[in-house]
Amino acid sequence: MRLMNLRCEYLTNPLGMDVPRPRLSWAYTHDDPATRAESQDAYRVVVAGSVEGLQREAAVLWDSGWVASDRSTHVVYDGQPLASHQRVYWKVLARDNHGAVHDSLAEAGPAFWQAGIMAPGDWHAGWIGGPPAEFTTVHVKDETRESPQEVLRGPPCQMLRREFVLDQPVARATLYATALGEYEARLNGHRVGDRYLTPEWTDYSRRLLYQTYDVTALLHEGPNVIGALLGDGWYLGLLGPGDQVRQLHYGRDRRFACLLRVELADGTTTEVVTDAGWRLWSDGPVRWADHFLGCTYDARKALPGWDAPGFPADKEKDADTGADAKAREWAPVVVLEPPEAEAINARLEAQVHEPVQVFQTLTPVRVTEPAPGTFIFDLGQNLVGWCEVTLAGPPGTEVRLRHGEMLELDGTLHTANLRLATQTDTFVLAGGEPRAYVPRFTFHGFQYVEVTGLPAGTRPRADFLVAKAIASNPPVTGAFACSNPLLDRLWQNILWTQRDNMASVPTDCPQRNERMGWMGDAQVFAQTAIYNMDVAAFFAKFVRDIRDAQGEAGQYPDFAPHPFPNALLFAFGPGWADAGVIIPWRLYVAYGDARLLAGHYASMKKYVDLIHEENPDYLWRTWGSNYGDWLNGDTLKAEGYPTMGGALPKDVYATMFFAHSVDLLGRIARVLGHAADARRYTELAGKVREAFVSEFVLADGILAGHTQSAYAMALEFGMLPPALEPRAVEYLLETIEGYDHRLSTGFVSTVPLMHALSRRGHVEVAYALAESTRFPSWGYSIDQGATTIWERWDGFVAGRGFQDRGMNSFNHYSIGAVGEWLYAVVLGIAFDPTHPGMKRAIVHPRPGGSVTWARGHYDSIHGRVAVSWHRGEEGASLTGDSFHLEVTVPPNTTAIVHLPCIPGCQVLVDGKPLGNPAAASCELVEQSATETVLHVASGRYAFDVK
Ligand code: BGC
Repeated sequence: MRLMNLRCEYLTNPLGMDVPRPRLSWAYTHDDPATRAESQDAYRVVVAGSVEGLQREAAVLWDSGWVASDRSTHVVYDGQPLASHQRVYWKVLARDNHGAVHDSLAEAGPAFWQAGIMAPGDWHAGWIGGPPAEFTTVHVKDETRESPQEVLRGPPCQMLRREFVLDQPVARATLYATALGEYEARLNGHRVGDRYLTPEWTDYSRRLLYQTYDVTALLHEGPNVIGALLGDGWYLGLLGPGDQVRQLHYGRDRRFACLLRVELADGTTTEVVTDAGWRLWSDGPVRWADHFLGCTYDARKALPGWDAPGFPADKEKDADTGADAKAREWAPVVVLEPPEAEAINARLEAQVHEPVQVFQTLTPVRVTEPAPGTFIFDLGQNLVGWCEVTLAGPPGTEVRLRHGEMLELDGTLHTANLRLATQTDTFVLAGGEPRAYVPRFTFHGFQYVEVTGLPAGTRPRADFLVAKAIASNPPVTGAFACSNPLLDRLWQNILWTQRDNMASVPTDCPQRNERMGWMGDAQVFAQTAIYNMDVAAFFAKFVRDIRDAQGEAGQYPDFAPHPFPNALLFAFGPGWADAGVIIPWRLYVAYGDARLLAGHYASMKKYVDLIHEENPDYLWRTWGSNYGDWLNGDTLKAEGYPTMGGALPKDVYATMFFAHSVDLLGRIARVLGHAADARRYTELAGKVREAFVSEFVLADGILAGHTQSAYAMALEFGMLPPALEPRAVEYLLETIEGYDHRLSTGFVSTVPLMHALSRRGHVEVAYALAESTRFPSWGYSIDQGATTIWERWDGFVAGRGFQDRGMNSFNHYSIGAVGEWLYAVVLGIAFDPTHPGMKRAIVHPRPGGSVTWARGHYDSIHGRVAVSWHRGEEGASLTGDSFHLEVTVPPNTTAIVHLPCIPGCQVLVDGKPLGNPAAASCELVEQSATETVLHVASGRYAFDVK
């Protein structure tokens, strides 16, 4: 076995870590997977000020000493408190169960973290910007409304610069930067870092994140220039869902603050901060930029070299050259005074989750010209980001790029579903040589780009532009492939949709005027998100956002951050607000993050207690909003599909979430060792279930509403006593049959339905739904060319066209939550809540449908669990046929493996009968009428069931 993946607070070698006692984790991979049952007997963590110190174990800041433990996650740093900016290196020594000692320096290389601003007094930066902004009103057309919408347009994006001299070579330089608004930092003519949409979205009135960059390579001895470009972002720009879109939620003026700390060759340090020494330019080329509306860039206003030494901005106005005439106009900056500045500083925290970055560049697959001079570029993939385009033309030429997800039947761009978010970039050319144009401070959801305004006679080829796909960018952790290409495409569409909706917060959609951290969507999708990507830090940040947005009374909002002063607006919605309990629990099960649970515990209690207070008879009927099982069958418009019978009554729905949240809180209390609370909430959950049964279970076990959703959720949320479950399963099947074997579920109940069937002997029904291409199904959208998951089952129906123009996203992950079913049921990799972080994985593939093989993996916090299976040639029926399963379990973990095996069948391990000494590390746990259950140690296994 070999050490790998040393991380600090989920991040690899993070800069700007302001957690005082960060947690360290490592994992193992196999040197040789044929070696079985490898584990860690003891570990020792050493932290020192340098790699050499670590090697020699000199000037050590923390030495845990040898700890007899197999723990490899969340080991809390317990050494000397770190000073601001201090970089420390760490290693793990581990003794395995064969007595060998592993050294991460040799096996994985040195790891480090660098402290952020650890004491408020170490943040010396001022807050700078321009004079109070003036706004003009402009009108923007929203195709779903009669009259154009009024929008405020602020000043062009400010440019800020400061020149400074370094009298020695640079040993290391770190830049900390943040803004009210959105910033792009510049150094000596270069963009700093590869992060976008900084500072990311939080409730800025409570918490403002700074970003940390290693800028050593951008500085040099002699004159240097630091600069910044300032835009609106979430802080000032259009923000909010649909009718509630507003501007200036958090403030009216853009401000920038940064601290550049340079360690010089002689060991001294110097700092450059935002202060009165900076200069301001207010008439730059970025005329307007907004997340929803797009960016207008006028190249005629560009000041080449403004962010590099030699630019005359700081010179005396003695010469009469054009450049110096401009230089005269660089104004002093406005510096915010205390107490305003202090109040902002008090909210500063480091960003300790993965940044938004460009993760892929796409080139168009085709270009068409639906009208003369109007060109449509098809990227072949619905994505989020923007285009980079190379343009040349006479000064004043306005080239316009509009972005949309779909085309109309006549080949023109479909834009109605964007509502107010026109996502249009306009580039005004300055003449001269061709040059590359990119928009700033905006992002679009699109597959198609419409380009107009090109100089007459231009016939662009497909390589005229490229698209940059952006997302919050943690590592991808999951892989899935199987014999049915439709399911492969579904998995890819889910992953794309996830990335497209990770823009600092998990968003509902990335294109229309919404893009909110809708919590119903997020909780429904969280498990799939966890399989696909390492979302531990991303969601930990989101849990903070949720807590920041909790109302006085305890209600969680329906989306977070929640930028509205009225905490009762969009709040306390069953299934939405409950994300405040459900997501932390999922994170605990996936990553073993008990610290997150502890930090959020009081908040969850307050929320759950509020539901109880408001609903003392245990039936949840007093809520804030209630979206119910959103977008269920009753909202579908298609010939031959029932108009009624999909929606379950809202109190039935809500009461199930009441029970679910209380039940999870009881489990959380147990994890945290709060025994009395654990008892109390377990009892309360029991009372809610009893009330549910007496109120909503009618004669013959029929559930009020008699819908697929009610049975699916009741079964999966454990609402029914065992005696009533078989009936509920029958009714579930009956209600599916009632829809002619189609779904009528909304996005909340769809995955519960898939699991309810799969866990209760009806996996074939689940496969039939998953593999269907008949309307409504996942396959139907794929047949229509979908490359992402649609918001509505009937977003577009052949012959009928688009659904509701105003609410019809083609990039919405909610019904993509079926991804967790692909991983847990088809592939068969699942989490065991009693052994979080896959310290003990569950491997339980349930083959079915047309699928004859599947393979994939999940990179858990403990290492990679991989599965590959195929069924015997004889065909579809499992019983009696052969089944081959290969499983790789990472060192220092175990797995429970379920093999489909009826009495009389034989299980071979690596070709030898179970129980044979050669099949050691593999113990029989249970033999039932349908399966053999084994407990296996780490290593690779090949199982055959004959
Ligand atoms: C969003 C949803 C969200 C919902 C609340 C919609 O507009 O796109 O996905 O959960 O509002 O009902």
